[in-house]
Amino acid sequence: MLLFSGSNGKSPQSLYADVSKTHAEYGFTRFSAWLKNACGINLPCARKYLAVSKLNTLLKQYKNFDNLVSFLEKNPSSNISYQVIEAMTTNETMWFRDGYPFIALSDIILPNFKGTQLKVWSAASSSGQEAYSVAISCNEYAQAKRINLTANVLATDISRYVINQGMRGVYSQIELRRGLNADYLARYFERLDDNYWQIKNNLRQMVTFKYLNLIDNLAGLGIFDVIFCRNFMIYLDEENKNIMLNKLRLNLKKGGYLILGASEALSFTQAKYFKLVSCNLGIIYQAI
Ligand SMILES: C[S@@+](CC[C@H](N)C(=O)[O-])C[C@H]1O[C@@H](n2cnc3c(N)ncnc32)[C@H](O)[C@@H]1O
Repeated sequence: MLLFSGSNGKSPQSLYADVSKTHAEYGFTRFSAWLKNACGINLPCARKYLAVSKLNTLLKQYKNFDNLVSFLEKNPSSNISYQVIEAMTTNETMWFRDGYPFIALSDIILPNFKGTQLKVWSAASSSGQEAYSVAISCNEYAQAKRINLTANVLATDISRYVINQGMRGVYSQIELRRGLNADYLARYFERLDDNYWQIKNNLRQMVTFKYLNLIDNLAGLGIFDVIFCRNFMIYLDEENKNIMLNKLRLNLKKGGYLILGASEALSFTQAKYFKLVSCNLGIIYQAI
């Protein structure tokens, strides 16, 4: 058949399938670029299935990624962009996650701290388990040493849903079972009903929750003694990770500590600004 001789002999049906496949790939590539620009998350084509399952309802409404992105680009501050970011972020967290960062607090950071109020930033805090674990660790340390010391923790995240939960300080039994021991539950929480507990006021007052997109300018945020930024940079590409680490470093006191997730490390360019401190099989980074 000469008709399709310029198309490798493909039938009209398979040509149509190729064109719509290319269109679908183009739409997803646009979506992926939009997402990276909006919140830093890097979503390669191999993880398209993730976006398809998380945005199932919106994709039914907009028919495909291309239409969805066209809407998002025309309406940058719409409720839909908020919904997309909310759906695409992973809020997985737990109390005293990985153990060693909190041992580092009480064995290395606090014994060398000279003031009475440790300024800590839990960047990409999710629903607050990390920030409250810091507050509990500081409280435990101060009580054991009988000293006047509290934590002043700023917890920030791009998801308003998790920020609201952190502010309320209300957690279900299932959430509490993930890393919190019975002793801390009894001392730092009040039972609300069969399923929910709330952080007591004195601990809640140590943590301030705030909506913040880490891709934005962080210059006005202040300088911290310790920054936790854990399990967020795994979603960034190398370039954005390096930019992010540089911004965090500028918000950290000289001699202050940066604590990353257990599977995260400094980029090559940032390594020269930090000293590696090992603690209980983990590594934390001290700004030099
Ligand atoms: C996997 S959770 C980590 C929570 C906690 N740091 C931990 O390690 O348990 C990642 C968090 O990063 C937040 N996040 C993603 N992109 C963000 C951005 N651009 N700015 C601020 N937070 C972001 C998500 O909403 C999510 O709550």
